[in-house]
Amino acid sequence: MEELSFRLARLSDFDEIVSLSKGIYKGHDYLPIEFHKWMKMENMAIMLVLSGDKIVGSRAAYIIDDGKTYIRRAGRVLPEFRKQGISQKLSDALDEYVRFSFPTVERMRFVSKYNKFSDSLRLKKILQFEVLSYDIDEEEYRESQTWNEESTEIATCTKDYISNVLFSSRVVEQLFPDNILLYDRVPVEPCSSNFEHIVQEFDSLTFCTEKNPASSSPKSFSFGGVAQRVEYVHWTTYIYTRDVSLYKEHLMFQFKLACKSIKSRFIFVSSVMSESMSAQGRSLMEEKLHLKVSDNISEKRLNMYELDLVQQNVTEI
Ligand SMILES: CC(C)(COP(=O)(O)OP(=O)(O)OC[C@H]1O[C@@H](n2cnc3c(N)ncnc32)[C@H](O)[C@@H]1OP(=O)(O)O)[C@@H](O)C(=O)NCCC(=O)NCCS
Repeated sequence: MEELSFRLARLSDFDEIVSLSKGIYKGHDYLPIEFHKWMKMENMAIMLVLSGDKIVGSRAAYIIDDGKTYIRRAGRVLPEFRKQGISQKLSDALDEYVRFSFPTVERMRFVSKYNKFSDSLRLKKILQFEVLSYDIDEEEYRESQTWNEESTEIATCTKDYISNVLFSSRVVEQLFPDNILLYDRVPVEPCSSNFEHIVQEFDSLTFCTEKNPASSSPKSFSFGGVAQRVEYVHWTTYIYTRDVSLYKEHLMFQFKLACKSIKSRFIFVSSVMSESMSAQGRSLMEEKLHLKVSDNISEKRLNMYELDLVQQNVTEI
């Protein structure tokens, strides 16, 4: 292997980014789709690792929570360069860049299906999400067109409602345990400035809560939207509630929204925090609707990890 070097990505790297993505997640990768958007974002940096002048890996940093947190995203290493410590070196280079360029950052977070990280990395596991994933073909989509689209329980809501009501401290405690709002592997603190980042990155989201106009303490929230992947279209939705029947209502509502919005084959991906709820969702989708489980994810669980960078700094000194 030639000597490794590290640098930030440039727009002209796009073709090599596409090559890097080949074979990742069986055509469900998002990095080439997001690349140009990410390159324009001030709070995003894509670090590359090169062997000689060949790009062999990438990893992105996304700065959120008013500069307090950085999210590691889209770690990629070419198959023939794996298991040689390159990803770890790339992460170290990215950490160093973030420390220097965003000195307010105190912690790093990321979401991964992988759960066997070595203790020496000092990662703290802080959250777990259960994922359901279904492959919806044209026939199922057509069948869904005959369903009644109205839900007696769930309605769409506006961004203002989310900022003014859902992000009020009393509701946040109820809906977002650990003060985390996760969407498409981006965990943020539930507040308006972060929500703006999410809406900016994922532009076709629909927000939903239960029909309960008189109450200022909603018990449920979901959001979902089209997420383009290299060879597929996904509908990605995250559901937040402690109430099983509301969870099932949201799941159905999001599924109907997806069928209405996407007119061809798509993958319906839905995440929720509780294992028992996801079991209920699975039975609804598989036993009642007979949906076909998609093979795009090998693990049915997403884990969220945190590294305290301030503490790490102290230890390193
Ligand atoms: C994950 C990936 C970037 C690791 O690259 P690598 O250069 O082989 O990794 P390294 O040699 O530096 O170290 C291996 C370490 O990577 C970590 N790792 C392995 N699989 C991982 C995964 N799916 N996600 C995150 N980290 C992973 C582990 O800490 C592992 O150390 P361990 O074997 O002692 O537990 C590479 O396998 C890859 O590109 N996989 C496909 C894309 C992917 O799954 N990315 C996940 C991040 S979004």
